[in-house]
Amino acid sequence: MSSLHPSPAVVLQQVGGAGLDPVMAIMDEAFDQRFGEAWTRAQCAGILPMHGVVLTLATNNSVPLGFSLVRSVADESELLLLAVRPHGRRRGVATALVNRFIADARGAGAHYLHLEVRDGNPATALYERTGFRIVGRRSNYYRGTDGETFDALTMARTF
Ligand SMILES: CC(C)(COP(=O)(O)OP(=O)(O)OC[C@H]1O[C@@H](n2cnc3c(N)ncnc32)[C@H](O)[C@@H]1OP(=O)(O)O)[C@@H](O)C(=O)NCCC(=O)NCCS
Repeated sequence: MSSLHPSPAVVLQQVGGAGLDPVMAIMDEAFDQRFGEAWTRAQCAGILPMHGVVLTLATNNSVPLGFSLVRSVADESELLLLAVRPHGRRRGVATALVNRFIADARGAGAHYLHLEVRDGNPATALYERTGFRIVGRRSNYYRGTDGETFDALTMARTF
């Protein structure tokens, strides 16, 4: 039950553009290029200065393990990206990041939280365990490096 009891040694910290180096290293390791879910450095750098965008880095003993990227607009908050290095998985790091996303959104007065996840991604179970439900499907939302496309599920929770 590691994900219900994340290691107390995991530290979550909001970072700006200065956090892009570790974030891109995690991005490269975490996402399988077959699915087209990863963002480029330019995409990340472009969204970071926007109002309501928060990048959170998870570290253990100062070693970067994972990150989340969130955008809040009015009373809605969207989880844009979530990733954990392969060697840091199944220890509750992503759950800690999602729980922080939920707590921060609630604290900021958000009423609707949402995200897109590739149909078939095991992260769907993580989102269900943290209160999200499937509310829609977007056909061919992700395009992998070989051109194959994959549907996205829209998941949401309300307060
Ligand atoms: C999805 C991801 C972020 C999960 O990170 P993590 O730190 O291992 O997640 P947690 O340890 O918090 O897992 C919580 C629960 O989610 C589910 N889960 C997570 N990864 C799973 C997997 N590979 N297979 C099955 N269930 C999984 C389990 O229910 C797990 O609880 P358990 O370990 O007690 O069984 C990580 O595997 C990853 O970076 N994947 C590639 C990027 C990605 O797909 N991101 C999400 C879409 S943007």
